[in-house]
Amino acid sequence: MLRDQLARPLRDLRISVTDRCNLRCTYCMPADVFGADYAFLPRAELLTFEEIERLARVFVDLGVSKLRITGGEPTLRRGLPELIGRLSALSGVEDVALTTNGLLLPRMAGELKAAGLHRVTVSIDSLDPDVFGRMNGLGTHPQKVMDGIEAALQAGLGVKINTVVQRGVNEDGLRNLWLALRDKAVVRFIEFMDVGNHNGWNLDSVVPSQEVLARLSADGTGAEFRPVNPNYQGEVAARHVGAQGHEVGLISSVSAPFCGDCSRARLSAVGVLYTCLFAGSGIDLRAPLRAGATDAQMNAVVSGVWAARRDRYSEERGEATPERAAKVEMSHIGG
Ligand code: GTP
Ligand code: 5AD
Ligand code: SF4
Ligand code: SF4
Repeated sequence: MLRDQLARPLRDLRISVTDRCNLRCTYCMPADVFGADYAFLPRAELLTFEEIERLARVFVDLGVSKLRITGGEPTLRRGLPELIGRLSALSGVEDVALTTNGLLLPRMAGELKAAGLHRVTVSIDSLDPDVFGRMNGLGTHPQKVMDGIEAALQAGLGVKINTVVQRGVNEDGLRNLWLALRDKAVVRFIEFMDVGNHNGWNLDSVVPSQEVLARLSADGTGAEFRPVNPNYQGEVAARHVGAQGHEVGLISSVSAPFCGDCSRARLSAVGVLYTCLFAGSGIDLRAPLRAGATDAQMNAVVSGVWAARRDRYSEERGEATPERAAKVEMSHIGG
């Protein structure tokens, strides 16, 4: 079986299908950088659905069984259900998920489910309209996302919630959000990360997951939560269960890095393969693909890249490493 330099297998492929988004979250695509004159990728640069399907097959042959569609905001990619249909029909694919801000789900959830999508992960950071409006950069009301979550549930999709936590921004509303959503879906709280180059990250703006747990419980200690086993090896979120049996996930890339088990590859919308969320550069798969490479040749390229992989950025974050080059933007690889 294919293993990287740290003996990690290749199991997940995260596929970005667009770099555009209908929100401007301050921690991801701040509006002052991603403004009206920002040069988004031209359509001809994007991988076609045929190309994505072909690459996905190459990855599946190398051990991938989970596919996650990301963006930017993937629901903005025209014809997305067709792509979902192609990918979910691939033999060897066990799980097809979508990471979305939920805004278009009232329109699209039924169609996505019918196309073969298994589940969605919807991002929402606060139920307070002012706080959420500030965080999403456009003043968009949280009810719009809640409508999307309801639509996904109605359509029969599996639903998880992602909430990014930032010090001094949304930590006061975490319990409210948890109480409102925990009966509907598994909520996961994500430590604010230093992805990309524009979000002004510093360690002081991270709320450690242990504090998040304390803030979720009625007595303010977090003692009611007990850890439970991961659903699969290398699961990003550390699962906990509260006194009433609700599951919460903690994604602690800063306070408890999980590189040791990282089996994820990321494909950008233009076909660049990244072996880490924090990578400075990747390997262009589109060029050989468009130059007529065979499946066997593509297989050799990808397995060579994976076999050489040593990435463990989150574990190195705390170590004294030399200053790094610019990192890939979150909107190019979808987290
Ligand atoms: P499940 O299959 O439901 O477990 O999905 P997931 O948790 O892998 O996917 P999701 O897109 O919901 O990821 C949740 C958050 O974790 C996102 O903010 C990602 O950016 C972050 N994340 C996912 N994978 C990695 C990773 O390899 N490294 C780091 N540092 N963060 C990650
Ligand atoms: N830190 C942590 N999570 C982030 N996300 C986007 N940017 C960041 C960041 N800087 C989250 C999104 C989405 C997921 C794919 O990544 O909110 O839930
Ligand atoms: Fe868009 Fe998601 Fe980034 Fe927010 S986090 S700007 S919704 S891609
Ligand atoms: Fe994987 Fe890189 Fe995240 Fe570590 S920092 S878990 S290697 S993507």
